[in-house]
Amino acid sequence: MPSTSIAPAIKNALSEHAKQDLVHGIKHKFDSDQERVVHTSFDIANIHFDFSKTHIDDALLNTYTDYAAQIDFKAKRHALFAGERVNVTEDRSVLHTLLRDPRNQGIAMALPETLSQAQSARDALIKQYHDIQADLARRSTPIRNIIHVGIGGSALGPQLIYEALSGVNPKVKIHFISNIDAHQLVDALDVCDADSTLVIGVSKTFTTAETLQNIDSVADWFRAQGVDEPLTHFYAVTAFPENAVNYGIPNTNIVSFPEWVGGRYSVWSSVSLSAALVFGIEDFEQFLAGAAEMDRHFYHAEPAENVCFIAAALDHYYANFMQATSRAIFAYDHRLRSLVDYLQQLETESNGKDRQLDGSPVDQETSAVIWGGVGTDVQHSVFQMLHQGTALIPSEFILVAKADHDLNAHHQELLANGVAQTAALLAGQDIAKVNELHAEEHLTELTKQAKIFSGERPSTTMLLSQLTPATLGSLLAFYEHRTFSGGVLVNINSYDQMGVELGKRLAKQVNPMLDAMTPDSEVQKNAEGFDASTLDLIAR
Ligand code: F6P
Repeated sequence: MPSTSIAPAIKNALSEHAKQDLVHGIKHKFDSDQERVVHTSFDIANIHFDFSKTHIDDALLNTYTDYAAQIDFKAKRHALFAGERVNVTEDRSVLHTLLRDPRNQGIAMALPETLSQAQSARDALIKQYHDIQADLARRSTPIRNIIHVGIGGSALGPQLIYEALSGVNPKVKIHFISNIDAHQLVDALDVCDADSTLVIGVSKTFTTAETLQNIDSVADWFRAQGVDEPLTHFYAVTAFPENAVNYGIPNTNIVSFPEWVGGRYSVWSSVSLSAALVFGIEDFEQFLAGAAEMDRHFYHAEPAENVCFIAAALDHYYANFMQATSRAIFAYDHRLRSLVDYLQQLETESNGKDRQLDGSPVDQETSAVIWGGVGTDVQHSVFQMLHQGTALIPSEFILVAKADHDLNAHHQELLANGVAQTAALLAGQDIAKVNELHAEEHLTELTKQAKIFSGERPSTTMLLSQLTPATLGSLLAFYEHRTFSGGVLVNINSYDQMGVELGKRLAKQVNPMLDAMTPDSEVQKNAEGFDASTLDLIAR
Protein backbone atom coordinates (compact mmCIF):
# COMPACT_ATOMS: atom_id res chain seq x y z
CA MET A 1 0.00 0.00 0.00
CA PRO A 2 1.49 3.36 -0.95
CA SER A 3 2.04 5.90 1.77
CA THR A 4 -0.74 8.51 1.99
CA SER A 5 0.92 10.99 4.27
CA ILE A 6 -0.09 14.63 4.42
CA ALA A 7 -0.01 16.52 1.09
CA PRO A 8 2.34 19.55 0.99
CA ALA A 9 -0.50 22.01 0.29
CA ILE A 10 -2.41 20.82 3.36
CA LYS A 11 0.69 20.86 5.50
CA ASN A 12 1.40 24.45 4.41
CA ALA A 13 -2.16 25.54 5.13
CA LEU A 14 -1.97 24.06 8.62
CA SER A 15 1.45 25.61 9.29
CA GLU A 16 0.10 28.98 8.20
CA HIS A 17 -2.96 28.54 10.41
CA ALA A 18 -0.74 27.70 13.37
CA LYS A 19 1.38 30.83 12.80
CA GLN A 20 -1.77 32.95 12.96
CA ASP A 21 -3.07 31.07 15.99
CA LEU A 22 0.19 31.61 17.85
CA VAL A 23 -0.16 35.35 17.30
CA HIS A 24 -3.91 35.80 17.74
CA GLY A 25 -4.91 32.95 20.07
CA ILE A 26 -8.39 31.69 20.81
CA LYS A 27 -10.15 34.60 22.54
CA HIS A 28 -10.29 36.71 19.41
CA LYS A 29 -12.20 33.87 17.70
CA PHE A 30 -15.05 34.48 20.17
CA ASP A 31 -15.01 38.17 19.24
CA SER A 32 -15.18 37.51 15.52
CA ASP A 33 -18.02 34.97 15.79
CA GLN A 34 -20.73 35.79 18.30
CA GLU A 35 -22.24 32.35 17.71
CA ARG A 36 -18.95 30.52 18.15
CA VAL A 37 -20.17 28.28 20.96
CA VAL A 38 -23.13 27.17 18.87
CA HIS A 39 -20.94 26.63 15.80
CA THR A 40 -18.36 24.57 17.62
CA SER A 41 -20.49 22.50 20.01
CA PHE A 42 -22.29 19.23 19.32
CA ASP A 43 -24.81 17.13 21.21
CA ILE A 44 -24.26 13.47 20.47
CA ALA A 45 -25.57 10.52 22.47
CA ASN A 46 -26.38 12.58 25.59
CA ILE A 47 -22.92 14.12 25.64
CA HIS A 48 -22.37 17.80 24.97
CA PHE A 49 -19.04 18.39 23.21
CA ASP A 50 -17.78 21.96 23.45
CA PHE A 51 -14.74 22.61 21.25
CA SER A 52 -15.08 26.40 21.36
CA LYS A 53 -12.14 26.89 23.73
CA THR A 54 -9.77 25.23 21.25
CA HIS A 55 -8.25 26.76 18.11
CA ILE A 56 -11.00 25.27 15.96
CA ASP A 57 -12.48 27.54 13.29
CA ASP A 58 -13.93 27.17 9.80
CA ALA A 59 -10.56 27.48 8.08
CA LEU A 60 -9.02 24.78 10.23
CA LEU A 61 -11.99 22.46 9.80
CA ASN A 62 -12.03 23.02 6.04
CA THR A 63 -8.36 22.14 5.80
CA TYR A 64 -8.90 18.95 7.79
CA THR A 65 -11.91 18.11 5.61
CA ASP A 66 -9.60 18.46 2.59
CA TYR A 67 -7.08 16.30 4.38
CA ALA A 68 -9.76 13.67 5.04
CA ALA A 69 -10.57 13.67 1.33
CA GLN A 70 -6.90 13.43 0.37
CA ILE A 71 -6.33 10.34 2.50
CA ASP A 72 -9.68 8.77 1.67
CA PHE A 73 -10.81 8.89 5.27
CA LYS A 74 -14.37 7.78 4.54
CA ALA A 75 -13.22 4.66 2.69
CA LYS A 76 -10.94 3.76 5.58
CA ARG A 77 -13.76 4.26 8.07
CA HIS A 78 -15.96 2.01 5.95
CA ALA A 79 -13.20 -0.60 5.73
CA LEU A 80 -13.00 -0.73 9.53
CA PHE A 81 -16.72 -1.37 10.01
CA ALA A 82 -16.95 -3.73 7.03
CA GLY A 83 -14.38 -6.06 8.58
CA GLU A 84 -11.54 -5.52 6.13
CA ARG A 85 -8.20 -6.59 7.53
CA VAL A 86 -7.18 -3.12 8.66
CA ASN A 87 -4.70 -4.57 11.16
CA VAL A 88 -2.30 -5.23 8.31
CA THR A 89 0.70 -6.47 10.29
CA GLU A 90 -1.34 -9.16 12.01
CA ASP A 91 -3.69 -9.66 9.04
CA ARG A 92 -6.81 -9.21 11.19
CA SER A 93 -10.13 -7.43 11.06
CA VAL A 94 -10.96 -5.05 13.89
CA LEU A 95 -14.60 -5.54 14.68
CA HIS A 96 -15.16 -4.92 18.36
CA THR A 97 -17.92 -2.52 17.23
CA LEU A 98 -19.92 -5.61 16.22
CA LEU A 99 -20.09 -6.68 19.86
CA ARG A 100 -22.07 -3.54 20.62
CA ASP A 101 -24.52 -4.29 17.83
CA PRO A 102 -24.13 -7.82 16.47
CA ARG A 103 -26.57 -7.00 13.68
CA ASN A 104 -24.45 -4.03 12.62
CA GLN A 105 -27.62 -2.04 12.16
CA GLY A 106 -27.36 0.89 9.81
CA ILE A 107 -23.63 0.40 9.41
CA ALA A 108 -21.46 -1.39 6.87
CA MET A 109 -22.33 -5.02 6.41
CA ALA A 110 -19.70 -7.43 7.74
CA LEU A 111 -19.47 -11.01 6.45
CA PRO A 112 -22.34 -13.25 7.67
CA GLU A 113 -19.82 -15.52 9.40
CA THR A 114 -18.45 -12.59 11.39
CA LEU A 115 -21.92 -11.41 12.31
CA SER A 116 -22.74 -14.83 13.66
CA GLN A 117 -19.48 -14.90 15.64
CA ALA A 118 -20.49 -11.58 17.20
CA GLN A 119 -23.95 -12.88 18.08
CA SER A 120 -22.49 -16.10 19.53
CA ALA A 121 -20.03 -14.09 21.63
CA ARG A 122 -22.90 -12.02 23.04
CA ASP A 123 -25.02 -15.15 23.66
CA ALA A 124 -22.12 -16.96 25.35
CA LEU A 125 -21.55 -14.05 27.70
CA ILE A 126 -25.22 -13.85 28.62
CA LYS A 127 -25.41 -17.62 29.16
CA GLN A 128 -22.31 -17.70 31.34
CA TYR A 129 -23.62 -14.69 33.27
CA HIS A 130 -26.92 -16.47 34.04
CA ASP A 131 -25.20 -19.80 34.77
CA ILE A 132 -22.92 -18.15 37.30
CA GLN A 133 -25.80 -16.22 38.86
CA ALA A 134 -27.83 -19.45 39.20
CA ASP A 135 -24.83 -21.23 40.67
CA LEU A 136 -24.28 -18.42 43.15
CA ALA A 137 -27.92 -18.51 44.19
CA ARG A 138 -27.54 -22.22 45.09
CA ARG A 139 -24.50 -21.69 47.31
CA SER A 140 -24.84 -21.74 51.06
CA THR A 141 -22.18 -19.01 51.45
CA PRO A 142 -22.84 -15.96 49.30
CA ILE A 143 -20.04 -14.64 47.09
CA ARG A 144 -18.65 -11.42 48.50
CA ASN A 145 -15.46 -11.10 46.44
CA ILE A 146 -14.45 -11.68 42.85
CA ILE A 147 -10.78 -11.97 42.01
CA HIS A 148 -10.40 -10.78 38.42
CA VAL A 149 -6.93 -11.74 37.19
CA GLY A 150 -5.86 -9.99 33.97
CA ILE A 151 -3.62 -7.18 32.75
CA GLY A 152 -3.72 -4.32 30.23
CA GLY A 153 -6.86 -4.52 28.14
CA SER A 154 -7.91 -7.56 30.15
CA ALA A 155 -8.20 -5.43 33.30
CA LEU A 156 -8.37 -1.69 32.62
CA GLY A 157 -11.78 -1.64 30.93
CA PRO A 158 -13.58 -3.92 33.42
CA GLN A 159 -12.04 -1.99 36.31
CA LEU A 160 -13.20 1.33 34.85
CA ILE A 161 -16.78 0.21 34.27
CA TYR A 162 -16.96 -1.59 37.62
CA GLU A 163 -15.95 1.59 39.44
CA ALA A 164 -18.16 3.78 37.28
CA LEU A 165 -21.36 1.76 37.31
CA SER A 166 -21.51 -0.34 40.48
CA GLY A 167 -23.00 2.29 42.74
CA VAL A 168 -22.19 2.76 46.39
CA ASN A 169 -20.67 -0.21 48.23
CA PRO A 170 -21.62 -3.05 45.91
CA LYS A 171 -22.44 -6.30 47.72
CA VAL A 172 -19.74 -8.07 45.73
CA LYS A 173 -16.32 -6.44 45.55
CA ILE A 174 -13.98 -7.07 42.62
CA HIS A 175 -10.24 -7.23 43.24
CA PHE A 176 -8.34 -6.62 40.02
CA ILE A 177 -5.04 -8.48 40.06
CA SER A 178 -2.88 -7.36 37.16
CA ASN A 179 0.66 -6.84 38.37
CA ILE A 180 3.25 -9.56 38.77
CA ASP A 181 4.16 -7.61 41.91
CA ALA A 182 2.57 -9.85 44.54
CA HIS A 183 2.00 -6.96 46.95
CA GLN A 184 -1.18 -6.33 44.97
CA LEU A 185 -2.24 -9.98 45.19
CA VAL A 186 -1.38 -10.34 48.88
CA ASP A 187 -3.45 -7.25 49.73
CA ALA A 188 -6.47 -8.69 47.94
CA LEU A 189 -6.19 -12.21 49.33
CA ASP A 190 -5.89 -10.80 52.81
CA VAL A 191 -9.51 -9.61 52.72
CA CYS A 192 -10.94 -12.67 50.92
CA ASP A 193 -11.69 -16.22 51.98
CA ALA A 194 -12.04 -19.27 49.77
CA ASP A 195 -15.73 -19.92 50.54
CA SER A 196 -16.99 -16.55 49.38
CA THR A 197 -14.58 -15.79 46.53
CA LEU A 198 -15.07 -16.34 42.82
CA VAL A 199 -12.04 -16.31 40.49
CA ILE A 200 -12.09 -15.22 36.85
CA GLY A 201 -8.87 -15.38 34.83
CA VAL A 202 -9.03 -13.03 31.86
CA SER A 203 -6.55 -13.06 29.02
CA LYS A 204 -7.13 -12.75 25.29
CA THR A 205 -4.20 -15.05 24.57
CA PHE A 206 -4.15 -16.96 27.87
CA THR A 207 -0.36 -16.92 27.60
CA THR A 208 0.41 -13.66 29.41
CA ALA A 209 3.10 -14.37 32.01
CA GLU A 210 1.76 -12.10 34.75
CA THR A 211 -1.78 -13.45 34.45
CA LEU A 212 -0.78 -17.11 34.48
CA GLN A 213 1.54 -16.63 37.45
CA ASN A 214 -1.17 -14.77 39.36
CA ILE A 215 -3.78 -17.46 38.63
CA ASP A 216 -1.26 -20.07 39.84
CA SER A 217 -0.75 -18.21 43.09
CA VAL A 218 -4.49 -17.76 43.64
CA ALA A 219 -4.91 -21.51 43.07
CA ASP A 220 -2.20 -22.20 45.67
CA TRP A 221 -4.03 -19.95 48.11
CA PHE A 222 -7.23 -21.98 47.61
CA ARG A 223 -5.29 -25.24 48.08
CA ALA A 224 -3.86 -23.90 51.33
CA GLN A 225 -7.47 -23.48 52.53
CA GLY A 226 -8.29 -27.08 51.73
CA VAL A 227 -9.84 -26.69 48.28
CA ASP A 228 -8.82 -29.60 46.04
CA GLU A 229 -8.29 -28.89 42.36
CA PRO A 230 -9.16 -25.20 42.61
CA LEU A 231 -8.73 -24.59 38.87
CA THR A 232 -11.86 -26.62 38.25
CA HIS A 233 -13.80 -23.92 40.16
CA PHE A 234 -12.20 -21.00 38.31
CA TYR A 235 -13.67 -19.27 35.27
CA ALA A 236 -11.73 -18.09 32.25
CA VAL A 237 -12.36 -15.50 29.55
CA THR A 238 -10.21 -15.76 26.44
CA ALA A 239 -10.12 -15.69 22.65
CA PHE A 240 -8.14 -18.95 22.71
CA PRO A 241 -10.19 -21.39 24.83
CA GLU A 242 -7.81 -24.26 24.03
CA ASN A 243 -5.09 -22.45 26.00
CA ALA A 244 -7.36 -22.14 29.04
CA VAL A 245 -8.34 -25.82 28.77
CA ASN A 246 -4.67 -26.81 28.61
CA TYR A 247 -4.10 -24.71 31.67
CA GLY A 248 -6.72 -26.72 33.59
CA ILE A 249 -9.90 -24.63 33.43
CA PRO A 250 -12.93 -26.80 32.59
CA ASN A 251 -14.50 -26.14 29.20
CA THR A 252 -17.86 -25.30 30.77
CA ASN A 253 -16.22 -22.49 32.77
CA ILE A 254 -14.69 -20.79 29.75
CA VAL A 255 -16.36 -18.00 27.86
CA SER A 256 -14.60 -17.03 24.66
CA PHE A 257 -14.65 -14.00 22.41
CA PRO A 258 -13.55 -13.61 18.78
CA GLU A 259 -9.95 -13.07 17.80
CA TRP A 260 -10.91 -9.88 15.98
CA VAL A 261 -11.45 -8.14 19.32
CA GLY A 262 -8.19 -6.41 20.26
CA GLY A 263 -7.12 -6.48 23.92
CA ARG A 264 -7.49 -2.74 24.50
CA TYR A 265 -10.87 -2.84 22.70
CA SER A 266 -12.22 -5.80 24.65
CA VAL A 267 -14.23 -4.04 27.35
CA TRP A 268 -17.28 -4.72 25.14
CA SER A 269 -16.77 -8.47 25.36
CA SER A 270 -16.95 -11.19 28.00
CA VAL A 271 -13.73 -9.65 29.36
CA SER A 272 -16.19 -7.53 31.37
CA LEU A 273 -17.96 -10.59 32.84
CA SER A 274 -16.81 -9.81 36.39
CA ALA A 275 -18.08 -6.23 36.23
CA ALA A 276 -21.37 -7.33 34.68
CA LEU A 277 -21.84 -9.85 37.51
CA VAL A 278 -21.75 -6.93 39.94
CA PHE A 279 -23.88 -4.30 38.20
CA GLY A 280 -26.09 -6.57 36.08
CA ILE A 281 -26.26 -7.73 32.49
CA GLU A 282 -29.03 -5.24 31.67
CA ASP A 283 -26.72 -2.34 32.47
CA PHE A 284 -23.97 -3.97 30.45
CA GLU A 285 -26.33 -4.10 27.48
CA GLN A 286 -27.10 -0.42 27.96
CA PHE A 287 -23.36 0.23 27.98
CA LEU A 288 -23.09 -1.55 24.61
CA ALA A 289 -26.11 0.33 23.27
CA GLY A 290 -24.56 3.67 24.23
CA ALA A 291 -21.41 2.75 22.33
CA ALA A 292 -23.45 1.65 19.32
CA GLU A 293 -25.10 5.06 19.27
CA MET A 294 -21.70 6.72 19.01
CA ASP A 295 -20.73 4.20 16.31
CA ARG A 296 -23.66 5.31 14.19
CA HIS A 297 -22.67 8.94 14.61
CA PHE A 298 -19.06 8.22 13.71
CA TYR A 299 -19.95 6.05 10.73
CA HIS A 300 -22.49 8.43 9.18
CA ALA A 301 -21.44 11.97 10.07
CA GLU A 302 -19.38 14.04 7.66
CA PRO A 303 -15.89 14.81 9.00
CA ALA A 304 -16.76 18.47 9.72
CA GLU A 305 -19.66 17.40 11.94
CA ASN A 306 -18.13 14.28 13.35
CA VAL A 307 -17.04 14.75 16.96
CA CYS A 308 -14.57 11.85 16.78
CA PHE A 309 -12.92 13.19 13.64
CA ILE A 310 -12.89 16.79 14.90
CA ALA A 311 -11.22 15.76 18.15
CA ALA A 312 -8.64 13.72 16.22
CA ALA A 313 -8.00 16.62 13.85
CA LEU A 314 -7.33 18.90 16.81
CA ASP A 315 -5.02 16.30 18.36
CA HIS A 316 -3.13 16.13 15.07
CA TYR A 317 -2.99 19.91 14.77
CA TYR A 318 -1.69 20.43 18.29
CA ALA A 319 0.88 17.63 18.07
CA ASN A 320 2.19 18.53 14.63
CA PHE A 321 1.78 22.28 14.29
CA MET A 322 1.67 23.65 17.85
CA GLN A 323 4.40 21.41 19.32
CA ALA A 324 2.14 19.92 21.99
CA THR A 325 3.78 16.71 23.18
CA SER A 326 1.14 15.78 25.70
CA ARG A 327 -2.59 15.94 26.21
CA ALA A 328 -4.28 16.02 29.60
CA ILE A 329 -7.62 14.49 30.52
CA PHE A 330 -9.45 15.48 33.69
CA ALA A 331 -12.57 13.64 34.77
CA TYR A 332 -14.53 15.62 37.34
CA ASP A 333 -16.12 12.49 38.75
CA HIS A 334 -14.63 10.13 41.31
CA ARG A 335 -16.33 7.19 39.59
CA LEU A 336 -14.17 7.84 36.53
CA ARG A 337 -10.91 7.67 38.49
CA SER A 338 -9.57 4.90 36.24
CA LEU A 339 -10.51 6.62 32.99
CA VAL A 340 -7.09 8.12 32.33
CA ASP A 341 -5.34 4.75 32.77
CA TYR A 342 -7.81 3.22 30.36
CA LEU A 343 -7.40 5.98 27.78
CA GLN A 344 -3.63 5.94 28.13
CA GLN A 345 -3.55 2.35 26.96
CA LEU A 346 -6.15 2.96 24.27
CA GLU A 347 -4.33 5.85 22.68
CA THR A 348 -0.66 5.20 23.31
CA GLU A 349 -0.72 1.46 22.56
CA SER A 350 -2.77 2.21 19.43
CA ASN A 351 -0.98 5.24 18.03
CA GLY A 352 2.47 5.20 19.64
CA LYS A 353 3.99 3.97 16.38
CA ASP A 354 6.83 5.03 14.13
CA ARG A 355 5.95 3.11 10.93
CA GLN A 356 3.40 3.95 8.28
CA LEU A 357 1.10 1.33 6.80
CA ASP A 358 3.63 0.57 4.07
CA GLY A 359 6.42 0.07 6.63
CA SER A 360 8.20 3.36 5.91
CA PRO A 361 9.06 5.67 8.83
CA VAL A 362 6.30 8.08 9.83
CA ASP A 363 6.86 11.71 8.95
CA GLN A 364 4.50 13.19 11.53
CA GLU A 365 3.87 13.06 15.28
CA THR A 366 1.51 10.17 15.94
CA SER A 367 0.42 10.12 19.59
CA ALA A 368 0.75 12.68 22.35
CA VAL A 369 1.55 11.52 25.86
CA ILE A 370 -1.77 11.04 27.63
CA TRP A 371 -1.94 11.97 31.26
CA GLY A 372 -4.37 13.50 33.72
CA GLY A 373 -6.44 12.62 36.75
CA VAL A 374 -9.54 13.43 38.69
CA GLY A 375 -10.87 16.87 39.51
CA THR A 376 -10.75 18.66 41.84
CA ASP A 377 -7.70 16.80 43.22
CA VAL A 378 -5.62 17.64 40.15
CA GLN A 379 -6.18 21.36 40.71
CA HIS A 380 -4.08 21.07 43.84
CA SER A 381 -1.27 19.18 42.17
CA VAL A 382 -0.62 19.46 38.44
CA PHE A 383 -2.69 22.48 37.41
CA GLN A 384 0.08 24.94 38.18
CA MET A 385 1.89 23.68 35.09
CA LEU A 386 -1.27 23.70 33.04
CA HIS A 387 -1.79 27.41 33.77
CA GLN A 388 1.72 28.81 33.88
CA GLY A 389 4.07 26.15 32.49
CA THR A 390 5.95 26.76 29.26
CA ALA A 391 4.52 23.79 27.35
CA LEU A 392 1.26 23.98 25.45
CA ILE A 393 -0.92 21.20 26.90
CA PRO A 394 -4.34 20.83 25.30
CA SER A 395 -6.62 19.58 28.03
CA GLU A 396 -10.05 18.07 28.22
CA PHE A 397 -12.61 18.24 30.98
CA ILE A 398 -15.22 15.56 31.48
CA LEU A 399 -18.08 16.82 33.61
CA VAL A 400 -21.27 15.07 34.67
CA ALA A 401 -24.26 17.42 35.00
CA LYS A 402 -26.30 15.34 37.43
CA ALA A 403 -24.78 13.46 40.34
CA ASP A 404 -26.09 10.23 41.83
CA HIS A 405 -25.93 11.43 45.42
CA ASP A 406 -27.90 14.02 47.38
CA LEU A 407 -25.03 16.20 48.53
CA ASN A 408 -25.87 18.97 46.11
CA ALA A 409 -23.47 21.49 47.59
CA HIS A 410 -20.58 19.17 46.73
CA HIS A 411 -21.71 18.61 43.19
CA GLN A 412 -22.32 22.28 42.54
CA GLU A 413 -18.86 23.11 43.82
CA LEU A 414 -17.33 20.32 41.72
CA LEU A 415 -18.97 21.57 38.54
CA ALA A 416 -18.13 25.18 39.39
CA ASN A 417 -14.49 24.21 39.65
CA GLY A 418 -14.42 22.25 36.40
CA VAL A 419 -16.07 25.01 34.41
CA ALA A 420 -13.96 27.71 36.09
CA GLN A 421 -10.73 25.93 35.15
CA THR A 422 -11.68 25.94 31.48
CA ALA A 423 -12.47 29.65 31.75
CA ALA A 424 -9.20 30.41 33.55
CA LEU A 425 -7.11 28.52 31.00
CA LEU A 426 -8.61 30.61 28.24
CA ALA A 427 -8.84 33.99 29.94
CA GLY A 428 -5.55 34.13 31.79
CA GLN A 429 -4.85 37.20 33.90
CA ASP A 430 -3.00 40.32 32.80
CA ILE A 431 -1.15 42.89 34.87
CA ALA A 432 -4.13 45.26 34.88
CA LYS A 433 -6.26 42.59 36.53
CA VAL A 434 -3.48 41.80 39.02
CA ASN A 435 -3.33 45.50 39.96
CA GLU A 436 -7.09 45.69 40.33
CA LEU A 437 -7.32 42.56 42.46
CA HIS A 438 -4.47 43.59 44.74
CA ALA A 439 -5.00 47.36 44.81
CA GLU A 440 -5.03 47.43 48.61
CA GLU A 441 -1.89 45.37 49.03
CA HIS A 442 1.68 46.45 48.51
CA LEU A 443 2.86 43.69 46.22
CA THR A 444 6.36 43.82 44.82
CA GLU A 445 6.77 43.92 41.05
CA LEU A 446 8.21 40.42 41.30
CA THR A 447 5.09 39.05 42.99
CA LYS A 448 2.82 40.85 40.55
CA GLN A 449 4.65 39.34 37.59
CA ALA A 450 4.29 35.89 39.11
CA LYS A 451 0.52 36.37 39.22
CA ILE A 452 0.25 36.90 35.48
CA PHE A 453 -1.32 34.02 33.53
CA SER A 454 -0.90 34.08 29.77
CA GLY A 455 -4.24 32.33 29.13
CA GLU A 456 -5.07 31.21 25.57
CA ARG A 457 -4.61 27.58 26.61
CA PRO A 458 -6.90 25.22 24.71
CA SER A 459 -9.42 22.95 26.38
CA THR A 460 -12.34 20.82 25.28
CA THR A 461 -15.29 20.15 27.56
CA MET A 462 -17.45 17.06 27.46
CA LEU A 463 -20.58 17.33 29.56
CA LEU A 464 -22.45 14.11 30.23
CA SER A 465 -26.07 14.59 31.24
CA GLN A 466 -25.57 11.81 33.81
CA LEU A 467 -23.09 8.98 34.26
CA THR A 468 -25.16 6.04 33.05
CA PRO A 469 -24.11 2.78 31.38
CA ALA A 470 -25.18 4.30 28.05
CA THR A 471 -23.32 7.61 28.38
CA LEU A 472 -20.19 5.79 29.55
CA GLY A 473 -20.44 3.49 26.52
CA SER A 474 -20.82 6.50 24.21
CA LEU A 475 -17.86 8.25 25.82
CA LEU A 476 -15.51 5.28 25.44
CA ALA A 477 -16.63 4.67 21.85
CA PHE A 478 -15.96 8.34 21.12
CA TYR A 479 -12.38 7.92 22.32
CA GLU A 480 -11.94 4.75 20.30
CA HIS A 481 -13.06 6.40 17.07
CA ARG A 482 -10.98 9.45 17.82
CA THR A 483 -7.97 7.15 18.21
CA PHE A 484 -8.79 5.38 14.94
CA SER A 485 -9.19 8.73 13.15
CA GLY A 486 -5.87 9.92 14.57
CA GLY A 487 -4.21 6.78 13.21
CA VAL A 488 -5.72 7.36 9.77
CA LEU A 489 -4.49 10.98 9.75
CA VAL A 490 -0.89 9.82 10.20
CA ASN A 491 -1.25 6.65 8.12
CA ILE A 492 -0.42 4.07 10.76
CA ASN A 493 -1.86 0.75 11.90
CA SER A 494 -3.54 1.53 15.23
CA TYR A 495 -4.23 -2.12 15.98
CA ASP A 496 -0.97 -3.93 16.63
CA GLN A 497 1.36 -3.44 19.64
CA MET A 498 4.74 -4.83 18.61
CA GLY A 499 6.53 -2.33 20.85
CA VAL A 500 5.63 -4.24 24.00
CA GLU A 501 7.23 -7.49 22.87
CA LEU A 502 10.96 -6.74 23.17
CA GLY A 503 10.87 -5.95 26.90
CA LYS A 504 8.82 -9.10 27.59
CA ARG A 505 11.36 -11.24 25.69
CA LEU A 506 14.32 -9.73 27.54
CA ALA A 507 12.58 -10.21 30.90
CA LYS A 508 12.53 -13.95 30.15
CA GLN A 509 16.30 -13.75 29.54
CA VAL A 510 17.00 -11.73 32.70
CA ASN A 511 14.80 -13.80 35.01
CA PRO A 512 17.08 -16.88 35.34
CA MET A 513 20.07 -14.58 35.76
CA LEU A 514 18.54 -13.41 39.07
CA ASP A 515 18.30 -16.97 40.32
CA ALA A 516 21.20 -18.11 42.48
CA MET A 517 20.57 -21.69 41.31
CA THR A 518 21.19 -20.90 37.64
CA PRO A 519 24.53 -22.38 36.53
CA ASP A 520 27.22 -19.81 35.71
CA SER A 521 27.47 -21.07 32.15
CA GLU A 522 23.81 -20.26 31.51
CA VAL A 523 24.14 -16.85 33.17
CA GLN A 524 27.09 -16.14 30.85
CA LYS A 525 25.08 -17.22 27.84
CA ASN A 526 22.08 -15.07 28.79
CA ALA A 527 24.34 -12.07 29.45
CA GLU A 528 25.29 -11.85 25.80
CA GLY A 529 24.05 -8.71 24.13
CA PHE A 530 23.19 -6.81 27.32
CA ASP A 531 24.76 -3.42 27.99
CA ALA A 532 27.05 -2.79 30.98
CA SER A 533 24.42 -0.91 33.00
CA THR A 534 21.91 -3.74 32.71
CA LEU A 535 24.52 -6.33 33.68
CA ASP A 536 25.50 -4.24 36.69
CA LEU A 537 21.86 -3.98 37.81
CA ILE A 538 21.43 -7.74 37.41
CA ALA A 539 24.53 -8.39 39.49
CA ARG A 540 23.25 -6.14 42.26
O1 F6P B 1 1.42 -6.33 26.54
C1 F6P B 1 0.42 -5.82 25.74
C2 F6P B 1 -0.84 -6.64 25.73
O2 F6P B 1 -0.81 -7.54 24.68
C3 F6P B 1 -2.06 -5.73 25.64
O3 F6P B 1 -2.30 -5.29 24.36
C4 F6P B 1 -3.11 -6.59 26.22
O4 F6P B 1 -4.23 -5.84 26.59
C5 F6P B 1 -2.36 -7.17 27.41
O5 F6P B 1 -1.05 -7.38 26.93
C6 F6P B 1 -2.93 -8.43 27.97
O6 F6P B 1 -2.93 -9.48 27.05
P1 F6P B 1 -3.82 -10.75 27.27
O7 F6P B 1 -5.23 -10.31 27.31
O8 F6P B 1 -3.54 -11.65 26.09
O9 F6P B 1 -3.39 -11.40 28.55
